[in-house]
Amino acid sequence: MNPLISGIRTAEIGATQLPMVARFYEEVWSLRRLPGPEGMAHFAGTAGDYPILTVVPGGTAMRRLTWNVRNEAALVELHGRIRAAGLPVSATPRAFDDGAGTGFDSRDPEGRTVSFIAGNGAPPAPVVKDRMTKVTHFNLNCGNYEAMRSYMQDVLGFRVVDETKTNGFFNCDIDHHALVIGRVPMAPTLNHIAFEMPDLDSMMRMCGTMRENGYAIEWGVGRHGPGDNVFAYFAGPEEMPIECTAEVLQIDGNYAYRGPEEWGFPPGRSDQWGVTDAPSPRIKRIQKQFPFIELPLR
Ligand SMILES: [Fe+2]
Repeated sequence: MNPLISGIRTAEIGATQLPMVARFYEEVWSLRRLPGPEGMAHFAGTAGDYPILTVVPGGTAMRRLTWNVRNEAALVELHGRIRAAGLPVSATPRAFDDGAGTGFDSRDPEGRTVSFIAGNGAPPAPVVKDRMTKVTHFNLNCGNYEAMRSYMQDVLGFRVVDETKTNGFFNCDIDHHALVIGRVPMAPTLNHIAFEMPDLDSMMRMCGTMRENGYAIEWGVGRHGPGDNVFAYFAGPEEMPIECTAEVLQIDGNYAYRGPEEWGFPPGRSDQWGVTDAPSPRIKRIQKQFPFIELPLR
């Protein structure tokens, strides 16, 4: 258990066609639009009244990845650790404009803007079938896995729970992982964002809803190795790579790490079941090109 960070809070993205993108996340992807300033859109899941997705007008890109911090003392601790690591960071924690917390911005070792907010606003809402609960993990491509791995462990306090030949899995709470980092060096882009459905039937019905709205399943339905979660990948609006997932393995401190030699599927398989085809050329392409843009630190 990471004493500082409890999980993903928000993905902030830029969209060139904000009304169309916002309509998708509300009407198809089952998120709940929160009141907020004109010209941008905040969406909650059922896990709380805080934004799990923020869409702002501008170039199609990942803008910020925000972590939920456990309390104000943890926020101060993280701020000090990031400063001590020599990474760019806001001068001080301050109130942020999503109206539900205090936080600060920083940059990770590869220049992505990473933010931290303590304070979840309203208490968690009950789980609701057919509605996304939260963003359960990000998957990032990176140029220097060892540098990102030690940043996640030594600065942010995460545990490396599993590593395959291609990915490292980083844990902070009872979900098996909240972040995945690719081990094959490439540009520091977004591989995908995973949104969580509360149960398998809800997840499968979302796959049906997506197909009915013209979004083909680009990889899945399948069950991953590390994390044991059921998955389906889509090319979302403006070619954003998104995963719908359910049944993420719940773990505690007794979970035993397994390394690259202990993970893998038989030839021809890309998941535990062997039902899905390999990832489509389209999803493989968009999982390498979705950029992070550099933003000023608030
Ligand atoms: Fe994923």
